[in-house]
Amino acid sequence: MQKRSFLHAALAAGVVFAGSAAMAQDSTFRIGLILPMTGQQASTGRQIEAAAKLYMAQNGDTVAGRKVQLIVKDDTSLPDVTRRLAQELVVNDKVNVLAGFGITPSATATAPIATQSKTPEVVMAAATSSITEASPYIVRTSFTLPQVSVALADWAPKNGIKTVVTLVSDYGPGIDAEKYFKERLQFNGGQVTEALRVPLRNPDFAPFLQKVRDARPDALFVFVPSGAGAAVMKQFLERGMDKAGIRLIATGDVTDDDQLNDMGDGALGVVTSHHYSAAHPSAANRKFVEAFGKANKGMRPNFMAVGGYDGMRVIYEALKKTGGKGGANPSGDALLAAMKGQIFESPRGPVFIDAQTRDIVQNVYLRKVEKKDGELYNVEFDVIKDVKDPGKTK
Ligand code: PHB
Repeated sequence: MQKRSFLHAALAAGVVFAGSAAMAQDSTFRIGLILPMTGQQASTGRQIEAAAKLYMAQNGDTVAGRKVQLIVKDDTSLPDVTRRLAQELVVNDKVNVLAGFGITPSATATAPIATQSKTPEVVMAAATSSITEASPYIVRTSFTLPQVSVALADWAPKNGIKTVVTLVSDYGPGIDAEKYFKERLQFNGGQVTEALRVPLRNPDFAPFLQKVRDARPDALFVFVPSGAGAAVMKQFLERGMDKAGIRLIATGDVTDDDQLNDMGDGALGVVTSHHYSAAHPSAANRKFVEAFGKANKGMRPNFMAVGGYDGMRVIYEALKKTGGKGGANPSGDALLAAMKGQIFESPRGPVFIDAQTRDIVQNVYLRKVEKKDGELYNVEFDVIKDVKDPGKTK
């Protein structure tokens, strides 16, 4: 209780102070970027940090007369650490925006701080549907699991897949993926015969895959968070599940562009649904992939990088809209208002920040792993346009 009221007092003081004449002199615009730079989700941190820095290198670090400062913090993907870092960033560093959030628990742990301090929280990675409902200050530039899972459940029964076992990480996004995939598959006349959940931390897929092998469904549907896909693929192939006639289908988190090219030819033919592929055939994406590689020793951007890149764009455009009027930094409420309703062409395709939900509306693509110029890519073969998060329309 005491700790809580101290936080309230500190946050309130921070807000008052930020609005005072003394602070108005400091026109630096600060973005607190909290990411998992180490631990299981480190690839997400590496991708988003690289993308945010690329965006700043391409667009300058002065916006509407404000110097933009990016403060990167490593939360090791532990939500208690995320919360502490967010508090420090708001109270001590007086950041104008909180951003990043590699996993759902980190995004939701920060939500009360965003609300109390009226600081926009730009979620660039985490993808459980309900996150945007945790605070009216949350804006999302990543995606949601319901958004991408439904497309695959429409595709599967039309392509000879009637019985499916689902295998998901046992937390927010996995439970969303399981629920929305299952509901839609059943609606389409298919059947989920078993729903398996693996722990988020240090998962051992072997016993679950053995169960799937014994159950012999037409396909295995998988969601695991970015960074864990290679382990699933390896064990799926080692067990000869593909040879036993079980198809692997998944959200694009599994054939993540950060890991895909190292998965080997066993990954060829795997069908996934997702909002971004490094192979997306648009001029904007080709430019993005090339610039990202150039700035990062040939690294290929994944969907996390795009969430970070677009998140920076949303922040920059909001600042342009609100910050050019001289005097103090724009208030959190003004920034938030300027984030809502933004429409632009992302490397993933056209996107829209829905003003009502503060969530991203975007195309979802069906893709198949293929070899292009000797490398493995998620090659898009169909698109469902302008998909809203189905989790919001219920
Ligand atoms: C999440 O925790 O919300 C999350 C993390 C990684 C993903 C998708 C969702 O690839």
